[in-house]
Amino acid sequence: MARRVGVLMGGWGEEREISVKTGEAVAAALSARGHAVTRVLAGPGLDRALRSAKIDVAFLALHGRMGEDGKVQGLLEVLEVPYTGSGVLASALAMNKGFAKKLFRLHNLPAPSGYSLCAEQASEAVELHGDLGFPCVVKPSCGGSSVGLSVVHAEGQLSTAVAEACRYGGEALVERMVQGKELTVGILGGQVLGSCEIAYPTEAFDFQSKYKGGSRYFLPPRLSPTRIENVEFLALSAYRALGCRGYARVDLIASESDNDVVLEVNTLPGMTQTSLLPKIARQAGLSFEDLVERILELSGLDEVSVRPAAGHSSLSQLIAG
Ligand SMILES: Nc1ncnc2c1ncn2[C@@H]1O[C@H](COP(=O)(O)OP(=O)(O)O)[C@@H](O)[C@H]1O
Ligand SMILES: [Mg+2]
Repeated sequence: MARRVGVLMGGWGEEREISVKTGEAVAAALSARGHAVTRVLAGPGLDRALRSAKIDVAFLALHGRMGEDGKVQGLLEVLEVPYTGSGVLASALAMNKGFAKKLFRLHNLPAPSGYSLCAEQASEAVELHGDLGFPCVVKPSCGGSSVGLSVVHAEGQLSTAVAEACRYGGEALVERMVQGKELTVGILGGQVLGSCEIAYPTEAFDFQSKYKGGSRYFLPPRLSPTRIENVEFLALSAYRALGCRGYARVDLIASESDNDVVLEVNTLPGMTQTSLLPKIARQAGLSFEDLVERILELSGLDEVSVRPAAGHSSLSQLIAG
């Protein structure tokens, strides 16, 4: 059924430019499928823009701060406009890599060992580092697109890397650098869609390799079918651990020598024609338009249904009486 869809793009964060690319690709796909599309530029005044846009549903083409971390989802909940992707809590948890790791541990899912620290502790990093070793990865707890991420090879570089990661508004995560194959798994409607291995010429899958070319993609990954199945199950478990909805893309490393690890869950992954999730979908027989349509079908609001207990009055009756 054709609906009035507002495609929310732009936003407040460092990933604004990428978000507009996602938004334009999604808007074109939705129009091709006969939906009435309104482009909504997200930023200050979004609440007013949404009220006047008169849309049935919001397709979130936002990435990173404000758009992917539950805040815009909260606004849409208040306005009662259903939206694509995860709800408020799952979005907030996935966006904060430190909290997400706590939940992974609670669900017995392996994540890289490490510690977190705030900007004031940058000079103490060397003491806290213990036997974590080098190289290690330092990244913002609430970042994306590898912005603010460094691979640190020696003690002397540690506090600068921590200070840099803390510039993005949260704590810095310092992690053991896990060697192995970089994988990303697509999840759609609570099921594994497929996975992709990424090989890049740099030390980490950094901003340069993500958006400026030079990376190679292998679908399916160059691993045994059993190994792929295990990694995909781990990804689905991470998605469930955070309570995600609709779709997501989970980043992992298939280790050469140890446990495979979950790096993060992206609740609003890139959705241009050449982004990773659409690549995975294509391999699974789903065109870009099919994928966009399916994500739209899975849109909704957080479920907050409180059933009145038999024989009990409603809260308003109790207050009135
Ligand atoms: N602990 C780690 N060990 C090895 N590589 C890592 C580790 N953490 C991050 N990386 C590398 O940095 C990239 C970005 O890290 P990630 O945690 O996915 O954050 P984001 O993509 O949100 O910036 C990964 O794709 C991977 O190449
Ligand atoms: Mg990532």
